[in-house]
Amino acid sequence: MDLRGRSLVTVADLTKDELLFLVEEAAALRSAKREGREVPGLQGRHVALIFEKPSTRTRTAFEVAAHDQGAHTTYLGPGESHLGSKESVADAARVLGRLFDGIEYRGASQRTVEVLAAHAGVPVWNGLTDRWHPTQMLADVLTMRDHATKPLEAIRLCYLGDGRNNTANSLLVTGALLGLDVRIGAPQPLWPEASVRDLAQSLAASSGARLSVTEDVGEAVRDADFVYTDVWLSMGEPAAEWDRRLDLLLPYQVNRAVLEATGNPEVRFLHCLPAFHNAETEVGREVLARRGLQALEVDEEVFESPASVVFDQAENRLHTIKALLRATLGG
Ligand code: CP
Ligand code: NVA
Repeated sequence: MDLRGRSLVTVADLTKDELLFLVEEAAALRSAKREGREVPGLQGRHVALIFEKPSTRTRTAFEVAAHDQGAHTTYLGPGESHLGSKESVADAARVLGRLFDGIEYRGASQRTVEVLAAHAGVPVWNGLTDRWHPTQMLADVLTMRDHATKPLEAIRLCYLGDGRNNTANSLLVTGALLGLDVRIGAPQPLWPEASVRDLAQSLAASSGARLSVTEDVGEAVRDADFVYTDVWLSMGEPAAEWDRRLDLLLPYQVNRAVLEATGNPEVRFLHCLPAFHNAETEVGREVLARRGLQALEVDEEVFESPASVVFDQAENRLHTIKALLRATLGG
């Protein structure tokens, strides 16, 4: 499988075989690191990390992955370069492409990451935009592969919550590519856009994936192997939206009743994180206190339960991003 020079701006840039190859490479790299036999393959490479939004996992996963492999990273945080303000994205891409072997970009605009990829001349990896979160998908598929008791194609994945954010869009398309049974449970105003659903349906036509979008939580979770949720208000959305979002999404909170409604005692809980599962965050405290709530998209009981594999999922960001770097930068 030769992925040298390739960018990842959306998960649909990959074929099913390419995605599964990256996931298997990640599993092998994870074993190698744990057993102290990792072989660096990216010495002397330079990777730019452009973050126009905050990050805990994605930034650190890129940094640790690059360093484990002998590569060097340069972090350009919000407002720290001219990109988009005093210099066009295309110009910045051509400059950074002369200096770096690969560029990670996180920001609001999908167009920005696409223009970077078109002009940089080196691989560009989307570390999250408002529309897609493809590197998250690599970790999610690895985590499902690790925890599923059945072949990947037989997995039933239910996502509850904001059905038109970057994570939901990406899960629908990833499941479509791989041939999964994907259900999005969300209130109608938060259903995935038609263009995302059309893309997913066209991929499902060749993979045999079963896709559905419903307002009915019971229907969405029935027989699910994995229940996934994400924050109800994504980075960059106005805080003034919180109340409307709570009104729409409170019935979609993942709690014990929801896991029980799957009818599957082996069901596992996924979340890309960060999560509002208690009042131990600044934002969480404010929103929860105002509405007299204990938790938002997932309650403390489920988050801390044996069903929850969210920290495996978070660790897998490292191994999958490392596989992506090695495959696209080449040995
Ligand atoms: N899941 C995820 O992308 O986390 P960060 O925002 O911390 O990078
Ligand atoms: N939907 C979330 C994902 C965070 C990793 C956001 O964009 O904030």
